[in-house]
Amino acid sequence: MEKREPSHMLDLPAIKSQIGEVNFCFRQEVTSTNDWARDSASQLKAGEINLFLAENQTAGRGRGDHVWYSGPGSLTFSLLMPCPFNLQDPRRGLLALATGCGICTALRSWGFETQIKWPNDVFFRQRKLAGVLIESVDHNRVIIGCGINVNNEVSCIESATNLRSHASDPVDLSEILIALVRAINWRVSSIEQAPGELIGLVAQYDGLVGKLVQWSTGRKTGTGVAQGIADDGSLRILTDQGEIGVHSGSVTVLSNL
Ligand code: BTN
Repeated sequence: MEKREPSHMLDLPAIKSQIGEVNFCFRQEVTSTNDWARDSASQLKAGEINLFLAENQTAGRGRGDHVWYSGPGSLTFSLLMPCPFNLQDPRRGLLALATGCGICTALRSWGFETQIKWPNDVFFRQRKLAGVLIESVDHNRVIIGCGINVNNEVSCIESATNLRSHASDPVDLSEILIALVRAINWRVSSIEQAPGELIGLVAQYDGLVGKLVQWSTGRKTGTGVAQGIADDGSLRILTDQGEIGVHSGSVTVLSNL
């Protein structure tokens, strides 16, 4: 049997006992933890929070038609949880931002000064460290899929980084996961009660503010200087025609100005 590297190992009993109210399911291999969560949703109670963790995904998905490549030593998981508003709500963008804030808060406690890159990424030193994929199940629940590069190899993934490259020793996957799940759960669950606190945190972690960016919504594209995130989660951009709000799409940094 192939011997697993210590930096790729998960302490399942520790995870189960330290994620509080969250139910825990683990599989060695799935197509995608988001698909697994969706397929399981009908058997689970609406008010519950469930963590779906897999060591390997054979068809990990990103936003749009992107593929999420991971590998041994990475974290790939989905949280199925009650949602304070459905995905038709204009504030739906806050879900990915709240998740990004949870990821940043957890990783900053290890000293990794990560930043949010609107709308759904977490960057570290100008490279992508983590991605978030939010999907709805029904009117009351969402799936929050997270892929985090921890001890996995990222040299063949363009513009990516991992935590391992910035730490003196391999990072403990289980400890990081526990902190991530707690922080994401807390941040997403408090979107409605404390929206101002969330927006304040987003501003603190915003990695785009002040940068010259190119934005694209699929139909429209343009350039301007990022001004921060509005209360509804849209990206404010100062263009030659004045300030606009971009509600969905993607952004590329052109320069730090
Ligand atoms: C992105 O960067 O576009 C989002 C990436 C999200 C990847 C995670 S890994 C766990 C979950 N399952 C998936 O298939 N995707 C998300």
